Amino acid sequence: MKTSSTPKEPISLTNGNGEVKKHHKLIGTTYRNNSNSDYTENIEELCRSFKYSENSNHYWSEPHQSLLYGSPIYEGASPAQKLALNHLHWFANYNYISNSETETVVLNQVTADVFDAIGYETVAKELAMETEQEHHHIKAFRKIGLMTVIALIGKEGLNSSYQWNSYKSTLGTNFIPTSKYYSLRFVAKGLLNGTKQHYSQYLKDLEQKDDFAFRVPTTGIIGRSLKHDLQNFFTFNWGGGSPFLACQFYALRMIANMHLKNLEHPIAKYFKKVEKSGEFIPAPTAVSHYHFLDESFHTTISHVIAQDMYKDFSKPTAYEKYLGNLAIYMSQHGALGGLSAVLPHRYFNDDYLVMEIVYRLLQSPLFGMSSSEAMEWMYKSFCCEHEGFHLAAKNRQRLTSDLQRFFADVDYLLPVNREMRIMSSRGSIDDTIQNNIKTFKRFSHLVTN
Ligand SMILES: [Fe+2]
Ligand SMILES: [Fe+2]
Repeated sequence: MKTSSTPKEPISLTNGNGEVKKHHKLIGTTYRNNSNSDYTENIEELCRSFKYSENSNHYWSEPHQSLLYGSPIYEGASPAQKLALNHLHWFANYNYISNSETETVVLNQVTADVFDAIGYETVAKELAMETEQEHHHIKAFRKIGLMTVIALIGKEGLNSSYQWNSYKSTLGTNFIPTSKYYSLRFVAKGLLNGTKQHYSQYLKDLEQKDDFAFRVPTTGIIGRSLKHDLQNFFTFNWGGGSPFLACQFYALRMIANMHLKNLEHPIAKYFKKVEKSGEFIPAPTAVSHYHFLDESFHTTISHVIAQDMYKDFSKPTAYEKYLGNLAIYMSQHGALGGLSAVLPHRYFNDDYLVMEIVYRLLQSPLFGMSSSEAMEWMYKSFCCEHEGFHLAAKNRQRLTSDLQRFFADVDYLLPVNREMRIMSSRGSIDDTIQNNIKTFKRFSHLVTN
């Protein structure tokens, strides 16, 4: 995208022979290419003119990228219902992605200030540009997603009391007592001693806002991985002035980038197929395509920082290594810790929210079921083995292999993280069914009481 300031020369950080290090050249090239691209502008335009009715008669991705794909509900669905399930798949995934990108917006700025303070100007500028791009992505995902879900389920479906209650229950004790945050911060500050000249200005400003220690936890990939008080604690560490830890955030961001690629690459391929055929290209398909291209710059940057740039600095201390490992370990339990029966690109267990969307959908005029009929079909789709589980397991396996390949070259990681051992051992179809039976029982209790 074009920005008001023309990019300067890439930073000249050299190796022993006086040559610019390869990864700094790559950062400079990525920054220039990203500055000259117009993908974000295309997304903005598609968002501005979006009308659900103009896109409602077309598939937005291949049919296997549909909510409930392979389940008994999908098998029995009419062509119009299948189309709606395809659109709701887009909504559900991009809702999660926009939550994750909201987290990225904060953490890009927290860490960019550390890079700026140590003289890594091009990285800081690239991150500022990425942040601006994420704002546009988030706006497009939310607007298109919301217009779609309202057209298909209606406003009432979204605002129901079950959803709010279950949302509140997921928040639980996540509100952090200020004293706890500041004690953790105090300990961390001691352990990060000597890095305070690089302390992130953005983080300083955030902390000065009264509500920082009481921030409502987010629900994207980071929020699902670092629960409760750890979200703010990690934010403090990533921006606390340690160049190693600022780089370490990008190992976690890489998980988000790869998760996104796992979903979006097939949509980008679908875009090309439709474009080649000369048929109508639905706006959400085009948004995914341009987002895929924008994100390829972001992925390169995560890759370079997480795999190479951290080696520019002194070796991590035991504390820094521990935190780096803890972040990846927790993401294997959190955002990557399960499987969904109804969303083939989601890698944590199904919760009330997704059950409620399906419950509301089945009672909407599109499916016209009674409450008890909806519950019966939901049981068959969430709690009994079907084709959709196998598709999700295959997607999960692909992501696991991609992450294993990436982390194999990150030398501070313990084998449990380098080999993604927890992710590999979790998310089996049997475990998912057992888990869904329990969640479904609690959900039925909420519905019938
Ligand atoms: Fe994005
Ligand atoms: Fe991004």
